[in-house]
Amino acid sequence: MKVGMLTGGGDCPGLNAVIRAVVRKGIFHYNDTFLGFLEGWRGLLEDKTMALDLSAVAGILPRGGTILRTSRTNAGKRPDGIETCAATLTKHGVEALIAIGGDDTLSVAQKLHEYGVKVVGVPKTIDNDLAGTDFCFGFDTAVGIVCEAIDRVHTTAEAHNRVIVVEVMGRDAGWIAMYSGIAGGADVILIPERPFNIDKIAESLRQRHERGRYFSIVVVAEGAKFSADVDPAHGAPVVQDMGKDEFGHAKLGGIGNILAREIEKRTGYETRNVVLGHIQRGGSPSAFDRVLATRYGLGAIDMVHRGEFGSMAALRSNKIVSIPLKDAIAKTRTVDDDMIEMVEGLFEKVAGK
Ligand code: F6P
Repeated sequence: MKVGMLTGGGDCPGLNAVIRAVVRKGIFHYNDTFLGFLEGWRGLLEDKTMALDLSAVAGILPRGGTILRTSRTNAGKRPDGIETCAATLTKHGVEALIAIGGDDTLSVAQKLHEYGVKVVGVPKTIDNDLAGTDFCFGFDTAVGIVCEAIDRVHTTAEAHNRVIVVEVMGRDAGWIAMYSGIAGGADVILIPERPFNIDKIAESLRQRHERGRYFSIVVVAEGAKFSADVDPAHGAPVVQDMGKDEFGHAKLGGIGNILAREIEKRTGYETRNVVLGHIQRGGSPSAFDRVLATRYGLGAIDMVHRGEFGSMAALRSNKIVSIPLKDAIAKTRTVDDDMIEMVEGLFEKVAGK
């Protein structure tokens, strides 16, 4: 069978491991041939391709980024975009397509599926917010990077009696902040799921310092929001500029800076802000992500040969299973209440709460 493959949306450590696993199993076990489409859906819209054979995937397992490159091109938004994608596949004799991406990329995959194209999805996002799967590859690597950064700012915060705010990725879901905050022993963890009251944050830091601690670490997801009850101007995420990408997402960022300023103003503790940004998406995948990405790739090519189209490979109870694409994109998987309540057990109750 001739199989096409693309990677779309923000890159993520482990994309190359998926590509390699698909190509190796496809060639060794199914006698497949492959064609890579470059830069996400742009590759199908503009017919940009690369050969994908054993030599193309040799040595890519530990490499970050994606040999297919990526973009946030939204084929579903272009006039005749879906038809153009389908026509490009037909032109190349591609019988099935594996789309590796997050909810945006997979929402286009679902449209193609509805149009009649044979599509299988693989879940990718460091934000870990795709529904239907326990973990997305790339998340573990990002958490490891953030945890290392927290360890590093810990020692400098301690040396200077400072509060250090660490702003991490996480647009709608605070998984990176939650996991790295727990692993790094943060004193405050702020996530998009729970808008926060800045006065209570300041009070909790004061309580900690009154207990004899003289520094603190605050981890904040970029999508975290001040609660509107305290400041009606907030209640919405902080954006870098008013521009939006083709999927309608604003460029988030800046909450850490505002938070640092407000904490310092309220507590008088010297406060600094560190924004980790794209460092979280760069570099080699962790061993866990290499294995998970490889398992997703092997699962996806099996799904192609079982004819499970309109589906996504998902991790459920440590097994790779196939779920409908439409279920994966139906909603964002946010940090659940149980997890939030459990983690609250680590922290002192804020006076007056
Ligand atoms: O893909 C998810 C994500 O990592 C978000 O957490 C973040 O807001 C966004 O990508 C950044 O995207 P870009 O690379 O387009 O700036």
